Amino acid sequence: MIDDLQHLEINALAELEQSTNEDQAQAVRTKYLGRKGLLTTLLRNIAQVPDDEKPLFGKRCNEAKDILSAKIDEVLLQQLLRKKSEGLLKEKIDVTIPGRIIKFGRVHPVIQIRREICAIFASFGFSIVEGPEVELDYYNFEALNIPKDHPARDMQDTFYIEENIVLRTHTSPVQVRIMEKIQPPVRILSPGRVYRRDSDVSHTPMFHQIEGLLVDKGVSFADLKGMLTAFLKKIFGMNTKLRFRPSFFPFTEPSAEVDIRCVMCGGSGCRVCGQSGWLEILGSGMVDPAVFHNVGYDSEEYTGFAFGLGLERIAMLKYGVSDIRLFFENDIRFLKQF
Ligand code: FA5
Ligand code: MG
Repeated sequence: MIDDLQHLEINALAELEQSTNEDQAQAVRTKYLGRKGLLTTLLRNIAQVPDDEKPLFGKRCNEAKDILSAKIDEVLLQQLLRKKSEGLLKEKIDVTIPGRIIKFGRVHPVIQIRREICAIFASFGFSIVEGPEVELDYYNFEALNIPKDHPARDMQDTFYIEENIVLRTHTSPVQVRIMEKIQPPVRILSPGRVYRRDSDVSHTPMFHQIEGLLVDKGVSFADLKGMLTAFLKKIFGMNTKLRFRPSFFPFTEPSAEVDIRCVMCGGSGCRVCGQSGWLEILGSGMVDPAVFHNVGYDSEEYTGFAFGLGLERIAMLKYGVSDIRLFFENDIRFLKQF
């Protein structure tokens, strides 16, 4: 039996030596030291050992168990450490490799301009309001004194959703919606997207406008001129050349469009300004009494002015961009410059 014990010990240690992972080492423990393990069974059979050899045999068995158990623990620990350091090696960071550059988004140039303009008019006491992009024909045209089949409709080539529902062609319908809701004095600014069947270097089918409306007692054309000039000089600088040009809008009377010296050619004429040397940036005028009538304002008591400007036009002029379509191509190389 002592011989058997020696054999078991040698085999167990050899098997342990060959184990390469936790499972294998644990299997050795089960095989020899488990409840039905070989060493356990051997010790259980001590009855077959001659009486005088029993104490020695028992002692040797227990020693063998202790040694094997300690050895298994040691192997397990080593395996664990090896696994850990292998893992660490795999996770090793090479601090000499150049880092990845994190790309930050930024505010789109058109939105930057929108914020700038809103801030200027907020300082003039205007509140910012918004209106729907899908609009009733009534607000987009009729309430603004543009009846059905009126030739003025041709000024704005319209996308129709249904017979009486359009994608708004300008932000002017917000004027009507606001005046229906509140009584004068009114000082509102309304930025938003508008849509027209238009496409060339200075026109896109979707673009942004900002509408302004001021209604009070005794408002005159001089107020309109003064406020728009102050605003445009704030945006473009004090030396900016601008001109008020008589124009026509069904919802204002008198009306004026404001042009700014073309920044591309400095006024000598180019394809951006259509060789005229000027770029139209806004339409404006004194609110037509017919519009006041439609919203129930007394045009004998109140007067007001309104204006609508194209945000992309302003961004083009301010940043010297020669093609409006660049704003909507989402080319990062272009957008990064602002
Ligand atoms: C209007 O839309 C009037 N609602 C403006 C107005 C408001 C007049 C209040 C009087 C009182 P107009 O169609 O001219 O007007 O457009 C106004 C501005 O929008 C233009 O000066 C131009 O800067 C810009 N714009 C017009 N069409 C386009 C387009 N397709 N792409 C980019 N910008 C455009
Ligand atoms: Mg115009």
